[in-house]
Amino acid sequence: MQIELRVLRYDPERDQQPHEATYTVEANPMDRVLDLLHKVKYEQDGTLTFRRSCAHGVCGSDAMLINGRNRLACKIRVDQLKGKRITVAPLPGLPVMKDLVVDMEGFFAKFRSVHPYLQPSGPVPERERLQSAKDRAKFDDTTKCILCAACTTSCPSFWAQPFYVGPAAIVNAHRFIFDSRDDAAEERLEILADRDGVWRCRTVFNCVEACPREIHITQAILEVSRAIVERHA
Ligand code: SF4
Ligand code: F3S
Ligand code: FES
Repeated sequence: MQIELRVLRYDPERDQQPHEATYTVEANPMDRVLDLLHKVKYEQDGTLTFRRSCAHGVCGSDAMLINGRNRLACKIRVDQLKGKRITVAPLPGLPVMKDLVVDMEGFFAKFRSVHPYLQPSGPVPERERLQSAKDRAKFDDTTKCILCAACTTSCPSFWAQPFYVGPAAIVNAHRFIFDSRDDAAEERLEILADRDGVWRCRTVFNCVEACPREIHITQAILEVSRAIVERHA
C-alpha cells in the first residue's frame, strides 16, 4: 500500500517558519511510523531529522505528534492509524531544534528538580536495603517511565504555563516519595508544593492518554498532592 506521509519540517538555518513536506511511501500495514520515517530518510531525503535509538518502545527518544496525538513512532503501526494519510510533527510546547527534534533540556531540568534518585539517610549498610512486596507495589507503576515527554507536552496546563513542572517530573518524584528505602520525601513534597508544582494539574487526563507505558499518571499526581496536604496534618 502507499501512504502519504506529511511531516512538519523546520531547518533553523534555512527556514523562516515550519512547513509541511509530503512524501509517498510504499508501506506494509505492520510497518511502524518509525519505519516510514526511515524509508524517507534513506531513500528520499537524507536531511530529514528525528531522534530514535532502541526502536522497541524502551528508550523514549522518538515521541512525536502523530495524527494529532503524542505517541512513540516505533510503537504505532500503519494499520492502527487507519487511513492512507499520516501526519507527523514535533512534540508540542518544546522549542524545535530541527524537523522532529525538540530541545529537551527544559524537560530534563524539571525532571532533575525533583531529585529523582534514592536518598537514604544513615550510614551505608553492609548488605542491600530490604523492602516488602507490599511496599514495592506502592510505586511499581511509576518505575515504568521512559522519560519520553509525551505526557508533559500533551498537557494544556503545561502549554499555558511552561513553568509547570509537568506530569513526567511528578511521576518520577512519586517513584521515590513512596519508596520505603528513601528518606527525602519531605524535600520532594516541598518542591512539588510550589505554585508551579502539582497544583497546576487540572486533571485533564491528556497525559494518561499519551503515555506509551500506560502509567496511571493522574492517580500518581493525586497521591503526591494528598501526601503534600497530609504531611503536616
Ligand atoms: Fe513518557 Fe509516560 Fe514517562 Fe510521561 S510518564 S515521560 S508519557 S513514559
Ligand atoms: Fe495535565 Fe495530565 Fe493534569 S494532562 S492537567 S498533568 S491530568
Ligand atoms: Fe526507543 Fe522508540 S526508538 S522508544
